[in-house]
Amino acid sequence: MSSLEKTLSIIKPDAVERNLTKNIQEYFLKNNFKILKEKKIQITKDEAAEFYKVHQTKPFYDRLCNYLASGPIIVMVLEGESVIKANRDLMGSTDPSKAKKGTIRGEYGISIDKNSVHGSDSAENAEKEINFFFKN
Ligand code: RTP
Ligand code: MG
Repeated sequence: MSSLEKTLSIIKPDAVERNLTKNIQEYFLKNNFKILKEKKIQITKDEAAEFYKVHQTKPFYDRLCNYLASGPIIVMVLEGESVIKANRDLMGSTDPSKAKKGTIRGEYGISIDKNSVHGSDSAENAEKEINFFFKN
């Protein structure tokens, strides 16, 4: 059964700062994801807090929001077959030290905070997150 989906991807400040944008986008293209939309922005801490609201009760929430607002990020809409899960698989584990070789976090992640990429984790969140960054 085919299911063409869209998901939101973010290249986080640590990876933008290290000029890894093109390298990470190569992973998407090699996996037959299309990059439908793309923009480079820097968000405020309040915007990061809104974006990561699902984590507001977690002990790492404040740190996470500060981090996402700390520098330029690349936000993208990716499209592909079952791309929500495919992108999560390609990203690898949240903690780069546990991420498999060949995954984006396995290759480029520095720490659980500086883990280089974000990807939507469900169809519902993909829709919300795409609307958050690309309202038109
Ligand atoms: P993301 O949302 O960024 O794609 O990451 P994820 O789904 O793999 O992980 P999630 O559980 O949604 O957590 C969001 C971000 O919070 C940071 N985090 N820190 N135990 C910790 O200190 C901890 N756990 C999560 C990570 O930077 C993670 O990407
Ligand atoms: Mg998440």
